[in-house]
Amino acid sequence: MQQQKKANGGRKKARNKIVLAYSGGLDTSIAIRWLGEAYDADVVAVLVDVGQPSAGFKEALDKAKRIGAVATYGVDAREEFARDFVAPAIQANALYEKHYPLATALARPLIAAKLVEVARKEGATAVAHGCTAKGNDQVRFEVSIQALAPDLRVIAPAREWVYTREEGIKWAAERDIPLPITKKSPYSIDENLWGRSAESGVLEDAEQEPPEDCYGWTAAPEAAPEKARYVTITFAGGVPVALDGHKMELADLIQALNAWAGEHGVGRIDHIENRLVGIKSREVYEAPAAQVLVEAHRQLESLVLPRDLVHFKYAVEDRFAELVYDGLWFTPLMESVRAFVAASQERVTGDVRVKLLKGAATVVGRSSPHSIYETSLATYGKGDAFNHGSAQGFIDLWGLPSRTYAARSQPAGLAEGATEKVSREAARAGAPRNGKGK
Ligand code: ARG
Repeated sequence: MQQQKKANGGRKKARNKIVLAYSGGLDTSIAIRWLGEAYDADVVAVLVDVGQPSAGFKEALDKAKRIGAVATYGVDAREEFARDFVAPAIQANALYEKHYPLATALARPLIAAKLVEVARKEGATAVAHGCTAKGNDQVRFEVSIQALAPDLRVIAPAREWVYTREEGIKWAAERDIPLPITKKSPYSIDENLWGRSAESGVLEDAEQEPPEDCYGWTAAPEAAPEKARYVTITFAGGVPVALDGHKMELADLIQALNAWAGEHGVGRIDHIENRLVGIKSREVYEAPAAQVLVEAHRQLESLVLPRDLVHFKYAVEDRFAELVYDGLWFTPLMESVRAFVAASQERVTGDVRVKLLKGAATVVGRSSPHSIYETSLATYGKGDAFNHGSAQGFIDLWGLPSRTYAARSQPAGLAEGATEKVSREAARAGAPRNGKGK
């Protein structure tokens, strides 16, 4: 770099500045040097804390400097992540494809926003990330950045220069780039407050059970304690606010619950996932707190929300999850979806008791000042307040369209009922008849 200055006749030519999303790992460490060389630019490394447990922030930032970053930023976004991204996801019971709690996906728009902030402060013309061409994360970063700062250029070194892990290590060694402090894993790991994902290596064989060494947060259910642990989660407006009666910041609450539930083997998810870029991939997640909180939240909603709202919300929840997964956090649709979800949460306040045992988190009790569960209506015992006589009239009207339709079609043989058609075809195919026969 010094040499270059001399070549320019000592004139201080303003170099381009690139703000890099830096994790401290091998790829983004390499990217610091590679971007400097390939783009003849000053690189600013930004490490965002979204509650990843093992990042070693200070060492990682020092290392970035040694590799050649002209400046480094450590951004503590843990609480912000919990409050602005995870809390809405809990309210939405957000699980992509009914399984994945979206830890990585939820953090990307926030990291993108932090990159943009630093880019503005530093007067950078570009931002960079370490994602490959095969994943969702590149999409999430870039679409978020486009939404927040359409003028910024985005550079993806790992898309321009495809290297194997071995080649990367060799390249780094030749340049005295210190290798990551974290121990080498055969898997590609991403972690934050809300969960951990493991990909690649032997996990790519979808037929094989994931080996124990791909897990980092949870005990194997068979090795978990024989005795259950009970935990009471207090929600206010659909957001968890206390564990066993102790008020906690959401990020702390999630981290505590990750430890408690993880110890009981709760939170392992093995899923074939449909990536946005068309690939199916085998994902192994650990998300103990997410599994407990989403299930507890659902059960509390069931207690306080009317049936039609609960059912309508299912569709909104799936859409919410898909928008997060697809990198569309900063869009008008997401804003509207979030507004709907938020509006549904006013009465989602109360306590949920969960039993953690051998890999299972089971809701075993719930209460709320807004409960619309009426024992007097539900009971089969004494004190029954339900009007039994009204049931018959209700069914008479509820079934009216069905009766009317059946009366027109059956006697004249005009149409065959769907059930009959299915059983006739099954019989033709040689399937055993059930019960009645003909
Ligand atoms: N499949 C998950 C997702 O798309 C996890 C991705 C993990 N990312 C990573 N860079 N290892 O959200």
